[in-house]
Amino acid sequence: MTRNCLAVVLAAGDRTRMKSSMSKVLHPVAGRPMIAHVMASIAATGVSDVVLVLGRDAEKVAKAGTLDGLAVESVLQTERLGTGHAVLTARDAIARGYDDVLVAYGDVPLITPGPLKAAREALATGADVVVIGFHTQNPTGYGRLLVEDGELIAIREEKDATPAERAVTWCNSGLMAINGQKALGFLSRIGNANAKGEYYLTDVVEIARAEGGKVVAVDAPESELTGCNNRAELAVLERLWQERRRHELMVSGVTMIAPETVFLSHDTVIGQDALIEPNVVFGPGVTVEGGAVIHAFSHLEGAYVAAGATVGPFARLRPGATLAEGSKVGNFCEVKKAEIGKGAKVNHLTYIGDAVIGADTNIGAGTITCNYDGVNKHETRIGAGAFIGSNSSLVAPVTIGDGALIASGSVITDDVPADALAFGRARQEMKPGRAAVIRDRNLAIKAAKKSQK
Ligand code: UD1
Ligand code: CA
Repeated sequence: MTRNCLAVVLAAGDRTRMKSSMSKVLHPVAGRPMIAHVMASIAATGVSDVVLVLGRDAEKVAKAGTLDGLAVESVLQTERLGTGHAVLTARDAIARGYDDVLVAYGDVPLITPGPLKAAREALATGADVVVIGFHTQNPTGYGRLLVEDGELIAIREEKDATPAERAVTWCNSGLMAINGQKALGFLSRIGNANAKGEYYLTDVVEIARAEGGKVVAVDAPESELTGCNNRAELAVLERLWQERRRHELMVSGVTMIAPETVFLSHDTVIGQDALIEPNVVFGPGVTVEGGAVIHAFSHLEGAYVAAGATVGPFARLRPGATLAEGSKVGNFCEVKKAEIGKGAKVNHLTYIGDAVIGADTNIGAGTITCNYDGVNKHETRIGAGAFIGSNSSLVAPVTIGDGALIASGSVITDDVPADALAFGRARQEMKPGRAAVIRDRNLAIKAAKKSQK
């Protein structure tokens, strides 16, 4: 598109209805602040400049809204007098003269570039104001799009609407595109004679029409335009986001047996032919390569799972866990900041932290890397092809060589050279017949107690 465009993103925040000590637009969806979702879509729409309208938590919101490669100018709305007033705080930028002015709301985060581009296209073909609307069975709280003779004539806010107007199910998403040459003229005519005493951006519809301007609405799916005023709506946004992303992943070749039980992060990457079993939670920063299997009830965060590796059931991968090809981390195992080598197995009831484990090494059930001395963290290095017997404690810093064998139940405090066998436990002693002697004595005590009663 040859027309240039200024995007104005409203994020002065309202935390009253959220009942929150933090700005609404900082609340996360899929682990990412709402405002960052909006900015990513704006960036993908290909606008020329962006103004972010800030209020509460201005610094934090500006930081969360900063994206690589997107130059953002911030303006402060010191008094929160409504969406129309908020857009006008970007007056200086709008006055620079753009073909298109695009308005987006920080609390409508699921928007994709499609509807934003469609709104700009409508401006390019002669509209002066383009409202992005949606149809919903649940219009409560939204402004209603009022139509007469097939034309959009006004947007009526819930609080100002008559019962008949409230029955309308065509709603305003808040997202809007305005002819850049006429925008300031329209916006500066907005008043505040309404139920809330606020300057409503939505009034530009009637203002533009009164001046002979062309006003149109373009529709987009409700799933992209749902807004957020309270925590219940935040949970709805999360659900919608999760449904969308799971669908994208499945269509790209990821198998999910019960997708509705899998929770993804905004940056989760899963390759083709990976299998994700039910009840798996992905925190931020996870990549699962193709063909890997994540068994049920596993929790992954900041982890890398290579092709053909398997995780769980009931495994926890914490930040810095890196599983090489074909490796296994099984049930009730926790792995943190550790490399698990190609084909290595960590199968049962184990904690591996701050460690490097070589290829094909087998870590027995109940092995613990004792990585923390109460003050500092230390590293455990285990070579390739080693075997760590069950219930061993590896007290870091410690190095175990290739092919070494650690006897079960050992506490290993010294380095073990390659191919050595290390015992770190008391030797077994044998007292033949002693168990029978003890048992007979105990039975006699019990019988004596009984006869006293
Ligand atoms: C607004 C629309 C409504 C629409 C709904 C969609 C108006 C008057 N109403 O209502 O028609 O259906 O969004 O979700 O526009 N903001 C500021 N400064 C302000 C006021 C708001 O920056 O002074 C920002 C908020 O941070 C928020 C966005 O603008 O990100 C929308 O404000 P909000 O108060 O949530 O508007 P709604 O009542 O939801
Ligand atoms: Ca809102």
